[in-house]
Amino acid sequence: MNIKGKVVLSMLVVSTVLVVFWEYVSSPEGSFLWIYHTKTPEVGDSSSPREWWLPNWFNNRTHSYREEALEGGREKVRNEDSSEELPLWDWFSPKNRPEVLTLTPWKAPIVWEGTYNRARLEKHYARQKITVGLTVFAVGKYIEHYLEDFLDSANRYFMVGHRVIFYVMMDDASRMPSIHLSPLHSLQVFEIKSEKRWQDISMMRMKTIGDHILSHIQHEVDFLFCMDVDQVFQDSFGVETLGQLVAQLQAWWYKADHDEFTYERRELSAAYIPFGQGDFYYHAAIFGGTPIHILNLTRECFKGILQDKRNDIEAQWHDESHLNKYFLSNKPTKILSPEYCWDYHIGLPSEIKNVKVAWQTKEYNLVRSNV
Ligand SMILES: *[C@@H]1O[C@H](CO)[C@@H](O)[C@H](O)[C@H]1NC(C)=O
Ligand SMILES: *[C@@H]1O[C@H](CO)[C@@H](O)[C@H](O)[C@H]1NC(C)=O
Repeated sequence: MNIKGKVVLSMLVVSTVLVVFWEYVSSPEGSFLWIYHTKTPEVGDSSSPREWWLPNWFNNRTHSYREEALEGGREKVRNEDSSEELPLWDWFSPKNRPEVLTLTPWKAPIVWEGTYNRARLEKHYARQKITVGLTVFAVGKYIEHYLEDFLDSANRYFMVGHRVIFYVMMDDASRMPSIHLSPLHSLQVFEIKSEKRWQDISMMRMKTIGDHILSHIQHEVDFLFCMDVDQVFQDSFGVETLGQLVAQLQAWWYKADHDEFTYERRELSAAYIPFGQGDFYYHAAIFGGTPIHILNLTRECFKGILQDKRNDIEAQWHDESHLNKYFLSNKPTKILSPEYCWDYHIGLPSEIKNVKVAWQTKEYNLVRSNV
């Protein structure tokens, strides 16, 4: 290469470095959006870090979500009306599982192994060419301990045969494990700021999911699931789980009476549920629905979390307490049996016929800096 070529080349390199550096310092807190691999490249433009990341979230009490996606802006949210559900009795046979509760008092199905006709549902959803999103958060040591198993198993068992987008939120994207995805699956990685306490990471999740739904997820998927990373798929988690607002029964509490549930019982908290009320104890490790419904859920839960911060109270089970409060007034349209999120420490009672997702061993002393 001649001298002139070398000069031009080095100028190019320097200007690239400058642009990247400027982007970095001018984004709040130096946070940086980083897309690892995506089949929908336009995403990068619509979700600049400035838009979705608000620093000092605890101190900012005036922040309100953009409302237009919930009100007035329905047409913005993809397929909200076109993704009709198949009538319940076309695919759901509660009689096959007489020993368990299969219908809520408000007539929502509780999906147990054997109650659904997956072939029927597959035909229905294949016609609609659905895309399903799955968010998962991994920060600190959770990355090395759980993320690879979670994603590998999700790639094998989550919505097989349908388009899937995994949204991975991590505090250090450079530690993303390499995952071989099947052709219909794609992956987007976002870097998030890590909070000092795991309780805050967990609660902050609600805000992050909401922000991402607004800035891009609502345009990319028809259904969205949000899951904890410390679990692993063991069998098909398929279209029988799809619905507008989907909740997961907590494996340790599905037979308990509502007064035993570990709801938040202090009146001061926004998550407060008085004794005598409540339907089920739901697990925050898995929830799902259409983007618009999850947006409302995350928004309401985060509102409650901020209100509690203001009142200097923290709900007993953090975001899960707020989630349970939300589901009390916004009844899930579908509930997943504990087979969809099972803890083998309980053993294996006869009604647990087919475990789809299992809890990983919780090594809290290893993965949490404040236990
Ligand atoms: C607080 O929220 C308001 C309203 O959304 C926003 O304009 C402002 O920049 C935020 N302040 C901080 C410090 O995040
Ligand atoms: C959003 O949540 C609020 C508070 O629970 C509820 O009143 C409202 O009906 C919900 N809206 C939607 C669209 O789910």
